[in-house]
Amino acid sequence: MNQERSSFPLRTVAARPLGIAVTALLLLAGCAVQAPEATTSATTSAAPDPAALRARVAPLLGVVQPVTAAEVAAPRAVLGRALFWDTRLSLDGKTACASCHAASDHSSDSRRFSINARGLPTTMQSQPVFMSMDQVALRWYGDRTDGAHQAERSITGSMGLGSAAEMVPLLRRMGYEAAFAQAFGSAGGDPVTARNYALALQDYQRTLRNPAPIDAFLQGDDRALSAQQRSGLQKFVATGCTACHGGPLLGGQSLQKFGLTKDYWLATGSNPPDLGRFNATKKEEDRYVFRVPMLRNVEKTAPYFHDGSVTTLPQAVRVMAEVQLGRQLPEADVADIVAFLSALTGPIPAHYAPPVFPAAQVAGARP
Ligand code: HEC
Ligand code: HEC
Repeated sequence: MNQERSSFPLRTVAARPLGIAVTALLLLAGCAVQAPEATTSATTSAAPDPAALRARVAPLLGVVQPVTAAEVAAPRAVLGRALFWDTRLSLDGKTACASCHAASDHSSDSRRFSINARGLPTTMQSQPVFMSMDQVALRWYGDRTDGAHQAERSITGSMGLGSAAEMVPLLRRMGYEAAFAQAFGSAGGDPVTARNYALALQDYQRTLRNPAPIDAFLQGDDRALSAQQRSGLQKFVATGCTACHGGPLLGGQSLQKFGLTKDYWLATGSNPPDLGRFNATKKEEDRYVFRVPMLRNVEKTAPYFHDGSVTTLPQAVRVMAEVQLGRQLPEADVADIVAFLSALTGPIPAHYAPPVFPAAQVAGARP
């Protein structure tokens, strides 16, 4: 447990209502485009003073703090960790959550599409799970309310089982009964349920927080960001990116149309274009709407966008400026913003790895 002490808490991220009106943000974004500083930002060459910059951006962003050892060691999180890494809990016996949320890819997948337990490619790019639990809704369409909802639906999705109920006998066969009893108690009946499987996975993922240099900077460390990163942060704000990518996660707080000032596929080459949340709700106002992704760790989670259509971060930044804000960013600004985004990369949590199964507890007989 000791080597895990330095692992990870976010003080709470204040979740905002699901549908911050697209039009309200359009206005916000529009204002940013008009703002005088936005037009002069390209010519600002000197890096901004750290204290002044901090005072300016602090109200727009927020700090993520390390998780406590107690959170990591809580029985539900410990169980969730085992479930997350266990390939046996899937149709083909080879697919775990971690298969498409790899540690080497900062909990995302560098393949454009992942392969699920039915041997089929996913229709969307895998998103990182680090810090994902504090978002307003999950997945590109924002069609899962929370981590437990997402995990429960994975059973018949990525994991390939015929029904959520089929997970229960599988869990028993793999020897998870004692760990479920320890995590959930047996007073309320049999603790081995699909719902508890999902709750344990949610609790584990809540512990996957990895503070980054931006947090140190916001907390007063002037040297946490390089001069170029400070310039990039200033330009990120001045350009209007924080209209959607604000808060502690730099996103994850609202659903927005992709392509406000230009059809997104003209910039990404997406073919065919995905209709976005419309596919989930069939509501006209959800056409081309996606949950704004958080930008924590974004440097490490290529390829970009819901369909992985853009392979590099500079290109993703150019596309965003063009289709969300109607701007062609000078290359110097793109480079500075990309440098800033690299200050959102935190270390891989020590407990983002398969557990060493305590013999008496979780480990079941291998089939
Ligand atoms: C076959 C690959 C694959 C497997 C296995 C898989 N995922 Fe995912 N995951 C994805 C993809 C692809 C997405 C994006 C799906 C979408 O938005 O439609 C995703 C999205 C997510 C999200 C949403 C993140 C966000 O920012 O909204 C979470 C959380 C998540 N997965 C957790 C899990 C858990 C827990 C498991 C195991 C029960 C799991 N995943 C198994 C590929 C996978
Ligand atoms: C009006 C809202 C809005 C604004 C303004 C905005 N974005 Fe985005 N951003 C989004 C949405 C929505 C997506 C998801 C698009 C998709 O479906 O793939 C996104 C995706 C991204 C991605 C890809 C993330 C990933 O994991 O694939 C990056 C990087 C990004 N934005 C950076 C920026 C930058 C830099 C700016 C400022 C130049 C900016 N955004 C301005 C809404 C916005």
